[in-house]
Parts: sequence; structure tokens; C-alpha cells
Amino acid sequence: MCGIIGITGRDDAVDGIVAGLQRLEYRGYDSAGLVAAGANQLRVVKRAGKLDNLIGALKGSGLSARAGIGHTRWATHGEPNDRNSHPHTDPTGRVAVVHNGILENYQQLRRQLPDQRFASDTDTEVAAHLVARELDRMDDPDLFEAVRRVVAGLEGAYSLCFTATDEPDTIVVAKNEAPLIVAHADGVGYCASDVAALIAHTRDVAALIDGQLAKITPEGVEVTDVDGNASEPHAYTVQWDVEAAEKQGYEHFMLKEIHEQPTAVRETLRDRITDDGGQQGGGRLHLDELAIDERDLARIDKVFILACGTSLHAGMVGKLAIEHWAGIPVDVEVASEFRYRDPIVDAHTLVIAISQSGETSDTIAAASHARDQRAPVIGLCNVVGSTLAREADGVLYTHAGPEVGVAATKTFVTQIIGCLLLGLYLAQVRGRLYPSECQDILERLQQIPGAIDEILAQDGDIAELAKRYAETDYTMFIGRHAGLPIAYEGALKLKEISYLHAEAFPAGEMKHGPIALIEEGSLVVALAPEGHVFSKMVSNIQEVRARGADVIAIGSAGTTSDLKDHADHVLTLPEAPHELATPVLATIPLQLFAYHVATIRGEDVDKPRNLAKTVTVE
Ligand code: G6P
Repeated sequence: MCGIIGITGRDDAVDGIVAGLQRLEYRGYDSAGLVAAGANQLRVVKRAGKLDNLIGALKGSGLSARAGIGHTRWATHGEPNDRNSHPHTDPTGRVAVVHNGILENYQQLRRQLPDQRFASDTDTEVAAHLVARELDRMDDPDLFEAVRRVVAGLEGAYSLCFTATDEPDTIVVAKNEAPLIVAHADGVGYCASDVAALIAHTRDVAALIDGQLAKITPEGVEVTDVDGNASEPHAYTVQWDVEAAEKQGYEHFMLKEIHEQPTAVRETLRDRITDDGGQQGGGRLHLDELAIDERDLARIDKVFILACGTSLHAGMVGKLAIEHWAGIPVDVEVASEFRYRDPIVDAHTLVIAISQSGETSDTIAAASHARDQRAPVIGLCNVVGSTLAREADGVLYTHAGPEVGVAATKTFVTQIIGCLLLGLYLAQVRGRLYPSECQDILERLQQIPGAIDEILAQDGDIAELAKRYAETDYTMFIGRHAGLPIAYEGALKLKEISYLHAEAFPAGEMKHGPIALIEEGSLVVALAPEGHVFSKMVSNIQEVRARGADVIAIGSAGTTSDLKDHADHVLTLPEAPHELATPVLATIPLQLFAYHVATIRGEDVDKPRNLAKTVTVE
């Protein structure tokens, strides 16, 4: 997630900005840059890659200023390279901007400036051009007023931070749906994406509220609403140390990322409908950089989904979605197996390679094996510009933001959302669903973030269950249909961070072997949300209960009362907007369960033994 730091009123502002960017590194980034503000010139230095590249470029430059802004970029629009790094300026170099978020209407805004050349592929740059245009139009140029006018026309999520040669000591910021903190201490004004960047200077900060702007100078911080009326931000004193600040008060990154899931899902669903010019009576679902010709997609007769680890489990939901909506047969396969056999693949086979990092070597190799046989490849990735994203024919990005915890959580739920979008898209391309039907389902999917919030509110009950079962050596997860991938994922989460033995089985397979493992005191977690296999799951629960197992059932609003007679504990999910969206909800309590079991056992949740976040070797 992009990081912003702004400082005004210190002779060593450039050093302060670099130190602030170092504090923001944990957020994840692919490039970094800063601007040193001056009345004659805004001096911008920016580099792709690690902060060390920026620091190297600054060395010996003698760059100093009393004010400036800095940025670490996590790419969402445009490759992560020097050109797309922030800050961006208008063509005359009068205004510079850094941005965290996505300006959804940037293309329309660019069209308002037909004569201007843009130096980058980003959604952000247009904001600097527009503010410069406003300043040009003013008899008495005023940066705050120029930003206020521009912000009124922006759509999307943003925290934006501007500086201009007109007022080099002034930083103007604006916030909507992306975090921004402001502060003033000892004659210095600050702004930052989060308190980690400011904690070395002050603990008294104020979080801006959506729709607020602030003018930051060495004299102080003035906050207004979008109409320019004085407005109060949320002021508070930070109680955390630097390490806790990076985790925003959560004990672990994994827990923070679990709680970021409503936002991550919202971002992945955002802005997926484009106007079809009235051709088919509404909008059409469109997916990021899916540069594969729709006519080729319409001719696909088979799909392979290839992935490893958690991404594989998302792929299992993808199979259900594509077969259900698009009516194409789908195989889901471990990438490391696919690459060493002789899969029947040709130009009519679509390969969907799922990898949050886009760097997992087995997945990349499997995808290229398929491409060698002329199969079009879609990468479903979280990291923009990653190897898989570059090598695939088309990319669908999950917009979960960087994930630090080794155990995938928010990237998993957004991969499932990505799979649902692909299922709907293929159905649309093949004429199996009208655009209006796609839209209707998409609209219902917008209920997911709220439903996740409701599940997160059950954390206390889940922690109690974890306390009770933290010493259980063996846990079996069972599920059917959309519950089965989540049974696999629930078992994986538990084993990878708590090191307890956990396995998952299709519930219908129990009687063919696994049920022999059940004895008095065994723990079975049963995925039994509402859906067409619910009654089958109840039978399976009865079978294991009769053999002495303790059962934790994951049910949903409509099934809780039935489950209570059969299971020892029932965790209730809110009603899902679609049966195929149930996995997104059902995985949340299992993430929390695994998290609590592991913390009770004192394990290193964010960095489990023997595991790596990204596996770039075979
Ligand atoms: C590693 C990680 C897992 C992840 C898997 C695939 O094993 O520890 O959390 O699911 O790699 O990673 P990818 O980046 O390809 O999704």
C-alpha cells in the first residue's frame, strides 16, 4: 500500500522524509521518490525498486529543503518503474503530487486536458496537471483553493499530498477512503499515511476524515471540508511504539490483514462495470488488463487453473464459478505437478495462473509450459508488474494491498473474488449471462465487506473456542461443494502457523477411510453453510459425532438452529449474497481460529518456521 510523508519547517526536511519513508517500508512498495520544495523549482528524485536506490540517487546531490513530500509506491496503474514512481508534476514543474489510492475517473479527467502530454501511465499525474491549471487561472494563486477545486471533481479513493513553487512552505492534503494523518510539533508541520512515519517527531496526531482537506505550514495545520468550511479531524495521542505503529495497534500483521479484508474485497470489486454505450442495455463487466480477445475467449473449450498453496484453494472456488456460470470444464491443478506431465493443452485451452506474489516459480513455469503450447494465460495476481503479470497474456489484479504475514489471508479472499469475476466475465463473453445478470450478481457481491465485518465481530467467541482446542493434536476439516476449498484452507492455516496436524477431506469421502481416524475427543470442523449440500453435511456431522468427535460447525443464518442439535459449537455466518460467495465468508472464522490457536501456543504467527512468503525456487 502506498506510503506518504510530508514535512514543512525543518532545514533537514529531505533527511526527515527519507527517515519517514524507511518507517513506511513495512507497507510494501515497488518504488520510492520525493520532492524538495523551493520557490524557484520543485526538485524531484525517484527510483524504481528499494529505498536504497533512492538514497543512492540522493547521495552527493546536495539536495536540501525546508519542505517536501515523499512516497513509497505500490503500483495499481502502470508498471512499477522510474517514470510511474511518485511524485508526479505538471509539465511546467509548478505543482507536485503524491497519492495513495485509485482515481477512478482519471481517464475522463485526462480528456479535459487534450493538449497536455502525460509523462506517466498513472492515474495520479492528472491531479498535478489540474491543480496547476487552477493556479494558472487565479489572479492571486492559492494552492489550497486550487486543490479544493480539483478535489471536488475527483472520484475514487485517495489521500493526496501537493506542493507548489508558489508556496514552497505549504503542503496541501486531501483524503477520501485512504488514510492520512496530520500533525504539528515544534514549528514543523507533518502529514503521513500512518503514525509509524511520525512517531519519532510527535505522538499527538490527527486522522483526517473522508472529505477533509488540510493546509499544513510551519505555523500549524488548518483542516476544512470540501467546501472550505473549518472541520475537525479525529485528534488522538499515539500510545504505541514504532513496531506496534507499523501494525496499527494489532499484535501481528496477520491479524491486521485479517481485519483489512472488508477493504481489500471492496477494492477488488471496485470499478468493474464500464458503460457499453447503451449497446446491450447497460454496463459490461470489465477486468483490468485482460488483453485477450473476447472472440478467443468465446472459443475456449477447457480451463486449467494452476496455483500453489492458498492460491490453489482460491482456484478450487474458481472451478465452481466458471463451470456454474460459464459452462466450461475446469481442472484445478497444483502447478508443480502440471509442469511435469503432458497436459492436453492447445489454443482453445485457457490457463488461469493464480499467484498473489506473481513470483512463485512453480506457477510461473507451469504457465509458461502452457503458453508454449499456445494456450492463452491469465494471471490472477496481487503484485502489479510481477513476473507472472508480465508474462501472462492478460492480468486480473486483486487489489488487496501488500501482505506481510506469511500466511495468506486478505489476498486469498480477493483471489476468490477474482475467480468469481472471471466466472462472470467468461459467462458474459460466451453469452451465458446477460450484462444485467452479471451486474445484478456484482451488486449483490458488494454486500460481502459488510458481512465480513459481522464475522470479525465474533472474534471473542472464536478466541474462546481456540482456547478450548489449542492443545488438540489433530483436527479434521470437512466440507462439500463451496465448503470444500475452505476446509482445505482452514486446515492449511491451522497447520502452517500452529504446527498442529490438520487435514481436510471432502465430507462424502469420510466413509472411505478418514472416518477411521475419528475417536473420542477428535476435533472436526465442518463447513455447513446454507446451500444445496447442507443436508448432506448434517449427515456427515452426525456420523463423526456418533464416533465421539467434538464438532465445530460453520453454519449460516438460515441453518444455525438445525446445526445446534448436531454440533458442539456453531459459528454463524451472515447470509451470503450468492452460494458461490460463501467461501469468502466461511474462511474468516477459520483464519481467526488458526490465529488464536497459534498465539495461545506462543508461535511466531507472522513468520512460521520453515515457510516463506514467496517461494521463488522449485
Ligand atoms: C507460499 C506462501 C503461501 C502461498 C504460496 C503461493 O507457500 O507461504 O501463503 O499461498 O506460497 O504463493 P503465491 O504468491 O503464488 O500465491
